[in-house]
Parts: sequence; structure tokens; C-alpha cells
Amino acid sequence: MLASASASAQAVRVAEGRRASLAPGAAALRAPRAAAAQQQQHAAAASRRSAARRVSAEAAATESPPVPGAAHTNGGGTRVMIIGGDGYCGWATALHLSARGYNVQIVDNLVRRNYDLQLGLDTLTPIASAHDRVRKWGEVSGKHIDLQVGDICDWEFLSQTFQAFKPDAVVHFGEQRSAPYSMIDRQHAVYTQSNNVLGTINVLYAIKEFNPDCHMVKLGTMGEYGTPNIDIEEGYITITHNGRTDTLPYPKQAGSFYHLSKVHDSHNMHFAARAWKIPITDLNQGVVYGVRTEETMADRALINRYDYDGIFGTALNRFVVQAAVGHPLTVYGKGGQTRGFLDIRDTVRCIQIAIDNPPARGEQMRVFNQFTEQFSVNDLARIVTEEGKKLGLDVETISIPNPRVEAEEHYYNAKCSKLQELGLVPHLLQGSMIDSLLEFALEYKERVRPELIKPAVDWKKSGTAVATMSAAVAK
Ligand SMILES: NC(=O)c1ccc[n+]([C@@H]2O[C@H](COP(=O)([O-])OP(=O)(O)OC[C@H]3O[C@@H](n4cnc5c(N)ncnc54)[C@H](O)[C@@H]3O)[C@@H](O)[C@H]2O)c1
Repeated sequence: MLASASASAQAVRVAEGRRASLAPGAAALRAPRAAAAQQQQHAAAASRRSAARRVSAEAAATESPPVPGAAHTNGGGTRVMIIGGDGYCGWATALHLSARGYNVQIVDNLVRRNYDLQLGLDTLTPIASAHDRVRKWGEVSGKHIDLQVGDICDWEFLSQTFQAFKPDAVVHFGEQRSAPYSMIDRQHAVYTQSNNVLGTINVLYAIKEFNPDCHMVKLGTMGEYGTPNIDIEEGYITITHNGRTDTLPYPKQAGSFYHLSKVHDSHNMHFAARAWKIPITDLNQGVVYGVRTEETMADRALINRYDYDGIFGTALNRFVVQAAVGHPLTVYGKGGQTRGFLDIRDTVRCIQIAIDNPPARGEQMRVFNQFTEQFSVNDLARIVTEEGKKLGLDVETISIPNPRVEAEEHYYNAKCSKLQELGLVPHLLQGSMIDSLLEFALEYKERVRPELIKPAVDWKKSGTAVATMSAAVAK
């Protein structure tokens, strides 16, 4: 808890968060202000505190599960700052870790909610406000989650929050994560890269300055690799060239300005791990599907967001909603596009595994490919059609012109063994999973706005004119 954070300071942070979120592209690139000498003092003190805290965190890791209705506690376990903890993956992860005795803090500027307001979009599920969510979680679980509303591109906010909470691990979900959003126009491309790349650099500096033992767990994407005509390794590839051999970062061929922001992050983190010996794990996550986790289903006020629109919706989640409302499944082009996928219940577990297995200081940045199965878009359409029929739904599939620039038929074989070697037991996409997703979508189908389903952004038409959110969606 941030006992030192006054109410007025909090109000300023909220205002700063709002300012940044209302003006994509206008995020200020602030010069670092804190005096170097003062930071060094903080770093030394933070490092001493961190060592003491690790001992208590290890002891707390054996705590029993929370007792519903008990007085709220903050877990007392490993201190985990979850940046982007109000988002789809972040919220489910925050609850998963809190339920298991980790001491969780959410840091989020709530900009994701503003993208929806600006674009005229909405989640399928009615989600509670960030403050109501954590309050309800306290009532349901007896666990306290600290919520700090602010922008990690604001160094003053991030450095104060980091020093006050003293995390042992930072899980960084806090980025603009839609490829179509980044391709709306120049302004949205610039906003995406400045928000994502500069925010990540700030996190790296916070760790370096205030606690270089703190483990950074960063969400990257499988989209960083593109679709090479060879197997995709987990982060690194050993190459023999002109008689010499080296193990190097795997080549990246990202397919949008969003995916490229993740590539830039990966390079910056790889450098920081080498230069400052910060322990870093880069998780190249596949496309996430599903909405239910044990904790988010514990109360309606804890329900997670579910995006089905043409900008933020991801493939399987979109198809399921389309099937539920009788809209044809919209396959882009030939539908041979193949990607890695995972259930959101595996996302939260992967993050826990990554936190529990930090690299040693000085070790090369770890890279895990975080997905469990590969599917083509046509595979997904076929699976949803078959399962939909079992529920009496008449599901049709159409091919529409591909708004993206991507191979529609290609080789794809990506490795994903490291997380399973560390204990991940995957939830595979079987009939029962699709059934429960379809039932979920049917439950909320009255909230679906069919006009939001079609793709809203064309890669080749991305221009310099400022597109308003509603104009982008109405195209
Ligand atoms: N959802 C997927 O299928 C998927 C797949 C691969 C990778 N990822 C990655 O996982 C992460 C989380 O994805 P998600 O689907 O939960 O996204 P999301 O948009 O639902 O959540 C991101 C959260 O970060 C917050 N945020 C953004 N910029 C911020 C800033 N400058 N300061 C503070 N908070 C900020 C947003 O308000 C939002 O709550 C992203 O980095 C994304 O690239 C997601």
C-alpha cells in the first residue's frame, strides 16, 4: 500500500492518466528529472529492503488459500506490480496471483477504457470500474489489491509508485495492444510506438535505479517473428555462417506498427539485461481466447472484458460472438494464416510460472513462446461451425478481402516447450471449451452491436489524415 501517496497526489495522477489517454499521440516525452545522486541513494536502500523482503516472501508462498469474507490482507507474499492490470490479460492475472498469496499492485492509466469511448466500441461483458473491481475482490477473497491509476510514460508517477511499492517482480502488460489500432493512421502509429516503447524504457530504468534484482516479466507477442519459412525457436537461433557459429536473437518480421513496437521493446530489454544485468523474461504470447478464470467468475463485478469488434477482438473470440448472433464468420482472404493460441487460464498460469522462475542476474534475457496450440483461421472457423451446430446454431463462413498485409498460405511451426517444462499443463481447445464460450456469448448476445464486427482498418489505406475513432469504425 502507498501510505505516503496523498489524496491530492493521487488526484493529479488520475488527471495525468486521463490527459494522456484522451490524446493518443500526444503523450509527452518527458526528460528524466530525478537527480542521479538521489536515485543512487534510493537504489542502495531499495536493494537492502528487497533482500529482506525476499525472505518473508518465500515464507508467505506456503500460505493457505484465502478465506472468503476474512479481513482484507495484502497477501504478504512476493510483491508483484502488474502494469496494465485493468486489461484483459492483466485483470485475470492480478486475481490469479492475489488468490495465491502474492502481494499484488495494479498500475494502469485506464486508457484501454478510453479507446472504447473514442472509437464507440464496448466489451461484450459489462465490466465494473477499476476501483469497484478491486473493492469487490477484497470482499470476495479477503485479499487486498493496491490500485494506482497513472501512466508509466510519466516517469515521476512510475518512479514514485515503484519506490513506494518495492516490487520483487513487475509484470508488464501495459501497452496499446491492437494491430489495427496502430494502423489507423500516422497519429495512432506514433502513439502506439511512443506509449509502448517509452513506457517499457521507463520500467527498465525504474528497475535499474531502484532495485536491479527486480524481475521484469514482459508481454511480447508471437507476431514479432512473423511467418518465416523455417521453424520458429524460443527467442534465439544458433547460426553457422562462413564457418563460424553463434546463438543470436531470432530474426523478427513483424506485421504492423503495433507488432514492431514489441520488437523494439525486445531489443531494448535484451540490451538492458546485458548492460545492467537486470533479470528479464520476455513472453512471446500467442492469441488469447476465453474469458472465464476461476477468480473472474467468482462475482459479476469481477467479470473480465471480452472484445469482439474489428479493432480489439482476437480471432477465436470474434468467431464465437459472430456464431452466437448469426453473423457469418469473417475469414480474411484464404484463411490459411496460422498462429499460436492459448486459453486465458493458461495465460495467468504462464505468468505465475515466469515469476516463480526468474533468471539469475547477469543471465541472458529469457524468452518463452507462450502459446499451447497452433491453428489456421480456417481451422478455427471449422471448429466453431461444428460446435455451433451442436448447440443448434446455423453457422456460415464467408471470405472477405484481407485488410492486413500478410501471407495467407505459409509454413508455420513454432516451438513452445519451455513453459511446459517448467510446469504448465495446457487447457487445450476442445469441444467443451468452445461450448462454454458459445454459451457465454449467447448469454450476452443482446449487447452485441453487429456493425462493430467488420474489420475497420485497412493496412494499405493507413494515411496521414487524422481518423476519428467513429470514422475509423464506420468506414
Ligand atoms: N490479448 C491477446 O491476445 C494478446 C496476445 C499477445 C500479446 N498480448 C500482450 O499482452 C498484453 C496485455 O494484452 P491485453 O489483451 O490484456 O490488452 P488490454 O488492452 O486489455 O490491456 C492493456 C492494459 O494496459 C493499460 N495501459 C496501456 N498503456 C498504458 C500506460 N502507458 N500506462 C499504464 N497503463 C497502460 C491499458 O489501460 C489496459 O488496461 C499486451 O502487452 C499485449 O500486447 C496480448
